[in-house]
Parts: sequence; C-alpha cells; structure tokens
Amino acid sequence: MADRQLHDGHGRRISDLRVSVTDRCNFRCQYCMPAEGLDWLDREEILTFEEITRLVSIFAGMGIEDLRLTGGEPLVRKQFPDLLGMLAAVEGISDLSLTTNGYLLGRDAAALVSAGIQRVNVSIDSLQRDRFFQMTRRDALPRVLDGLEALAAHPEVDPIKVNAVAIRDFTEDEVGRFCEFARSTRYQVRFIEFMPLDGDRSWVPESVLAGEQLRKMVAAIHPIEELPREPSATARVFRFTDGRGEIGFINPVSEPFCSDCNRIRLTAEGKLRTCLFSMSETDLREPLRSGADDAEIDGIIREAVWRKELKHRVNEPGFQQPPRTMSAIGG
Ligand code: 5AD
Ligand code: SF4
Repeated sequence: MADRQLHDGHGRRISDLRVSVTDRCNFRCQYCMPAEGLDWLDREEILTFEEITRLVSIFAGMGIEDLRLTGGEPLVRKQFPDLLGMLAAVEGISDLSLTTNGYLLGRDAAALVSAGIQRVNVSIDSLQRDRFFQMTRRDALPRVLDGLEALAAHPEVDPIKVNAVAIRDFTEDEVGRFCEFARSTRYQVRFIEFMPLDGDRSWVPESVLAGEQLRKMVAAIHPIEELPREPSATARVFRFTDGRGEIGFINPVSEPFCSDCNRIRLTAEGKLRTCLFSMSETDLREPLRSGADDAEIDGIIREAVWRKELKHRVNEPGFQQPPRTMSAIGG
C-alpha cells in the first residue's frame, strides 16, 4: 500500500532503520568514545526486546524493509541473538544486518546465523596489532580476526564487509594491507571518512582523509573499476579489474549522499533520530510505556520523519557537533 509508506518532507522514501540495542561498548575507538567511556544508560532506560520488536513491527508496517542492529557494541547486550530471532520473524523486514566490532563473534557467530542474520559489517581500522590498539584502545586484533573467520565459516552470511574509519596521518599506511586483505578474502573492505561524531571532540576538517585520495592510493597499487551504484547506497564500490575482491569508499564528508538518504535511527533508549547529525530527537519510549496504541505511535513517527533534515551541514560555517557520539546514536 503506497500510502502506508514512510516519506519525509523532501520527497525521500524511508526504508532503512538502524536500531542501537545498547549504548555500551567493550572498545573505546578514538573516533567514537572517550578513553574513560561514557555515562551508560540504566537498564530500565533501555528498550526491552519486546519494546524493540513492537516498534520494528510498526516501522515494518510503514515500509521499513532493511533493519540494521548496532550499538555501542550490539553483542554486549545480553541474549542479543534472541532479539535477532524475534526481529527476523517480523513481517516485512527483508534484510536483517548487524554492525559489530567483532570482539564477541567467536562466541556468537553460530547463534547469530541460526537467529537469521543475513549481512554483517565488522569494524577494523588497522591490520597491524599495535596500530589497531592505538585506534581502539584495545589490544584485540587477533581476536577480532578470529571472530571474523568464525563468521565467514557460514556462507549464508553474505556479504561480510570490513569497515575502516579513515583518519589523516593514520590510514594512509593501512591502504596496501587492506588491498591485500580485500583481494585474499571474501570480505568487501570499505573506508569511511571520519565524521564529527567522536567523544573526544577532536575532529577537525583536516583530520578527514578524503575517499578520493584513498581511491587514488588503491588504484596506484592495483587497477580498479567502479561498480554500478545501488539506489541509496552510501558506498562507491570498486572491483579489482583482475576479479580478485572489492573495495569501497563511504564519503559522507567530501561527497555527501544526503539527497537520497533513506535512513532513520532508533537509539537504545527509544529516541528516533532522523539524521546522524540531528540536534533534536523524538521520544518513542514514553508513548510506548504509557500505553499508546500502534496507530498513535505510527502518527508520532510519521510526523517526526516528515521533518527529516534535508542534509548535514558538516561543511558549513557554524556547524555544531551533535551532543551524542556515534556510540550513543548507532552507526
Ligand atoms: N566517523 C565515521 N565512522 C564512525 N564510526 C564510529 N564513529 C565514527 C566517526 N566518528 C563507525 C565505526 C563503525 C560504525 C558503527 O560507525 O567504524 O563501523
Ligand atoms: Fe565501540 Fe563501535 Fe564506538 Fe568503537 S566505534 S567505541 S567499537 S561503538
């Protein structure tokens, strides 16, 4: 039913929902969280599995098809695979995916697959143990790589993507290793430009390593050719011309893709965010807990989504970093 679909006031249809299932994380990535962590939400502030599933069902009734679970680190939420199973059963969700730091994949890969996960993104910013430690403040590269292998043992999870946040004066040195990694595994490697969503507020325009520069560095190592871009895809994806592997570039700062953004986000405590850089958000937990029926919640969502931001203003004078870090929004 076309009229049931979710649209914003700028003519975009919204079909992709990202749900943060916890604000907690076992890593402290420089570009995301401060070393000392953040003030975590209390247990009762976080949406229960039943509340998340109810909201996702309402969203699915409005044409949300793609559901990605994020955190913090989603796998630190207790019994997370059970939630996944509940969400896999929601009618209308055709694509169920996960973004994780990989630390607990060795423990959880099989359970995630049984619960119905289809696609997984794993964050790895360096393929060198000491530099991985420097970036994430955890000496965990070998364990993450083992977790990735445990996941890759399940052919039903496809694709598996490896995301590296690209930071000037850090990531240049990683390009060659990531090329070889992409060429020797079934993982699609993607570089993501550093966005001003870090806990330390150390982001400055100069710290962004533009995707185009990375693309040139890759092309100088091995010839690549661009693949057709899927609608609302954030990444520009290339394949190595000899057919061995793919590499992508997500360039939200240097080449914003806001004009065909189809995404919204739900935080762990039930706030709807219509942009990564939103300065305001809409509480869905209060209506949920005070007995609102589905039609009322549907109405609150539609009104909030109608006001979705036209675009981010990272490159404009006077840009203000939102109070939430990436870990409290959900990538
Ligand atoms: N800029 C770009 N990407 C970020 N991520 C976290 N913080 C930032 C940031 N400031 C990415 C992580 C992960 C996903 C959840 O978001 O690398 O892949
Ligand atoms: Fe944790 Fe992901 Fe943030 Fe790193 S980027 S601190 S893994 S939530």
